[in-house]
Amino acid sequence: MFDLIPLIKAAGYLGIFGIVFAESGLFIGFFLPGDSLVFTAGFLASQGFLNIWNLVSLIFIGAVIGDSFGYAFGKKVGPMIFKREDSFLFHKENLNKAKMFYEKYGGKAIILARFMPGIRTFAPILAGVGKMQYSKFLAFNIIGGAIWGIGLTLLGYYLGSVVPNIDKYIVSIVLLIIFISITPMIVHIFKDKNTRDRILNTIRNKTKYVNKLVVFNWKMNPETLEDAINIAKESDYKNIVIVPPFVFLEEVGKIIRKAKLGAQDLSYKDSRGGSFTGEVSAVELINLGVKYVIIGHSERRAMGETNSTIFSKIKTAMDSNLIPILCIGENLEERKSGLTRKVIRNQIYSGLSLTNRNNKPIVLAYEPVWAIGTGKPDTIESAREIIGYIKELTDQNCRVLYGGSINSRNINDFLKYPEIDGVLIGSASLEPKLFF
Ligand code: 13P
Repeated sequence: MFDLIPLIKAAGYLGIFGIVFAESGLFIGFFLPGDSLVFTAGFLASQGFLNIWNLVSLIFIGAVIGDSFGYAFGKKVGPMIFKREDSFLFHKENLNKAKMFYEKYGGKAIILARFMPGIRTFAPILAGVGKMQYSKFLAFNIIGGAIWGIGLTLLGYYLGSVVPNIDKYIVSIVLLIIFISITPMIVHIFKDKNTRDRILNTIRNKTKYVNKLVVFNWKMNPETLEDAINIAKESDYKNIVIVPPFVFLEEVGKIIRKAKLGAQDLSYKDSRGGSFTGEVSAVELINLGVKYVIIGHSERRAMGETNSTIFSKIKTAMDSNLIPILCIGENLEERKSGLTRKVIRNQIYSGLSLTNRNNKPIVLAYEPVWAIGTGKPDTIESAREIIGYIKELTDQNCRVLYGGSINSRNINDFLKYPEIDGVLIGSASLEPKLFF
């Protein structure tokens, strides 16, 4: 933005025309400099670099044709635009904001929007989408184009002519123009409680659970694919690993964009395939986009899974580049007898010691069996102490989570401690909305 002067000098009349045209109605032009560009161009004309009348005419024509192009585009493409996915240059959010603004101010929006970066580009497109009467649109377009294009350019020209040494202040003036043109939009956005909450929520969600791993283990739930898809959609955030039952993996994998996919188990019999009825192989999981796999969950141990089977599964997962989430934890009796550390040490060593990890990542989940599904999590002090102990036994490439009766109310009590790298959540993960 501070290089506007060389930019304008290099771009010349044609470049200025092109930028004004694109910024006025060319969908992807919303990020281009507008107000500051025409003001600075006017200033350069006052210094003899450009002819002011040629400049003013080109800017005016570029602005009006640009808006008309946007209108025609909106009319043709119509509602299809709203179905477009967000991308680096396109945000549905901007389009919706322009729509709200337009609904509120009607035809005047075409004029007002001229002075609002971002919205400027979308207002004429939306006029087209909404099939506003063209003659009415053109009238507002011409008035807006004149006030904005001619007015701002002449302002730059005038100040450049009458204020001595204005080139010293040009950067500050440009910043002021940007500030003035952005302020009404920000005020407008933040005045509306719903919009304000939405923006704050988006920011909160983007920064939520940052650097933590939150694993949603659905266990044998839900009953239908439809429910699975709905839950997955509501859980689709960065740093979340969604772990549905095998039968839903494929469909969940298709709809998530930010979350990662995990599986609840895998076969140790063969990483590729073979005659093993009921088993699911590592390669099958990988082909569905699975990144993580839970191994040795206490509910599987209770069904007869042994430390040696668990070791084989960890090895299979690692050899296939799946990240294992190895579950460990003592039962109530062991806890009461003061055997927690011993049990955990044993589970870690039998799960990991013989594995040649080659520094591959692994996740350990400390889940005291008595805290699973009981609504009574371990105390934070105890969880921190045991996780600290687990970290003494492992290396830096090993993240350690806590699991057992975590819900949306207590999750942050655990996550706020740096040694707790994340959480493994069971039943509460079926109501993901509460976490975001
Ligand atoms: P709950 O969160 O339902 O207690 O389950 C924990 C668990 O087992 C996660 O794997």
